[in-house]
Amino acid sequence: MIKTSEYSQLSLSRKPAIEDEKKSQDTCRSLIILLLIAVACLPISYALTILFMHFNQEVPEPPITSTTLQTTTSTKSSLHNAAACGKRIIGYYTEWENADVTKEQLDKLTHVIYLFAAVQENGTIKLEGEKSERRFYGLKNEAITSNPELKVMIGVGGHANSPRFSPIVSDTRKRGKLIDSIVTFIDENYLDGVEIFWVWSYETNKVHHSKFIRELRKKLTDLKIQKKRSEEYLISVIVPPSISHLTSGYYLNEIMKDVDFLNVLSYDYYFNGNQIGPHSPIYGGTRGNVDETMKFLACRTGKPSKLNMAVPFYGTYWVNASFPLLDDSDNIWKEKGSAGGPFAVRWNELIPKGWDKESAKFHEKSKTSYIWIPETKHFLTFENERSLQEKAKYVKNHNIGGVVIWAIDQDDVANTLLNVVSSSDICSVKDKDIVEYLC
Ligand SMILES: *[C@@H]1O[C@H](CO)[C@@H](O)[C@H](O)[C@H]1NC(C)=O
Ligand SMILES: *[C@@H]1O[C@H](CO)[C@@H](O)[C@H](O)[C@H]1NC(C)=O
Repeated sequence: MIKTSEYSQLSLSRKPAIEDEKKSQDTCRSLIILLLIAVACLPISYALTILFMHFNQEVPEPPITSTTLQTTTSTKSSLHNAAACGKRIIGYYTEWENADVTKEQLDKLTHVIYLFAAVQENGTIKLEGEKSERRFYGLKNEAITSNPELKVMIGVGGHANSPRFSPIVSDTRKRGKLIDSIVTFIDENYLDGVEIFWVWSYETNKVHHSKFIRELRKKLTDLKIQKKRSEEYLISVIVPPSISHLTSGYYLNEIMKDVDFLNVLSYDYYFNGNQIGPHSPIYGGTRGNVDETMKFLACRTGKPSKLNMAVPFYGTYWVNASFPLLDDSDNIWKEKGSAGGPFAVRWNELIPKGWDKESAKFHEKSKTSYIWIPETKHFLTFENERSLQEKAKYVKNHNIGGVVIWAIDQDDVANTLLNVVSSSDICSVKDKDIVEYLC
């Protein structure tokens, strides 16, 4: 069982406690069972249902097939194409998941970012707890023997301690302390750079946010000179998917001068509010979509090569959802009404939790994979092989700088999703800062 605090970090938004999910599923289950008895009036169907559901929960992960192994071998050369054409395949690796990172995974990435080093009130950063230290040093060990081009970065901040950024960066002295602490951490751990994982900068922060990034760049350049390092240290900043928030909370063109790239967290579009919909739709809907976000950023900054588009390796689902989701042409966006959720489910938990991946359908308009179970009124929206191929195609066609994965430790043991992302052709023939949108 995952702890609530860990569960809430599955994605950017706060997820409801897993206990609620379980309770609602249990209630939901009992309801279906009752219904079945009423309709069929057969005790035998009751027994069968129980058996089926029980069994369903305990289906083991499928074994690694030879097809998967073949994909693994072919991905390597494709990845080198992506890296050679200057595109990025970035993986987040987290302190709270359980699967240990492997050399095989790292060989498919250009960058790996460890989440998180926490910001303390006095402005210093540190890894929190024994598990986090073990996972971070484990990552560093694997990285030493993997592809020498791999960049290893530390993500500073995170959901829980992001509120600490505002008071620290608005105070010149504390801001300096935070920067010094980041620079020391990078130096002591032989890292290639840092991601500022501040969720989020708002209107009142934006001046200090860009000052912070500017001063951080200066200090990292000083370190580079001091260490006689040939390459600059890397700086990345996360930005939200909402256009109004991007406009009000960030001096985008100021930040762009000092960062190597922005990681655009282009998911959870339907996490809040009264609607149910695809969590990372490329097109459509009324609560924004990936295309609107990426277009806005590419047009506003003129630097599509500095943008990475995020893809989630978890799904979002609702229970008690009331729609007739009849076919792919049907409108996939619905009022939430009395539906329960949203809840998050990792890719590697889909099978153990009874979801049948083979039953996934594809919504053409939003380019989203989903599962709709009319009997239980469960609606799941998630990334699978097909939707990730669509995302890769989008990155290529719009000359976007790369893909960032939340998170590689939510993939299955065969790295099914990572294989799709890393083997996709995302290289564009166009020059890197040609904006492929009608701005
Ligand atoms: C900052 O705060 C932490 C936790 O309160 C403490 O352990 C650490 O020693 C402090 N560091 C400095 C430089 O004040
Ligand atoms: C699902 O619907 C049933 C019946 O209306 C209700 O008892 C249950 O609480 C609902 N579950 C959620 C999570 O909303």
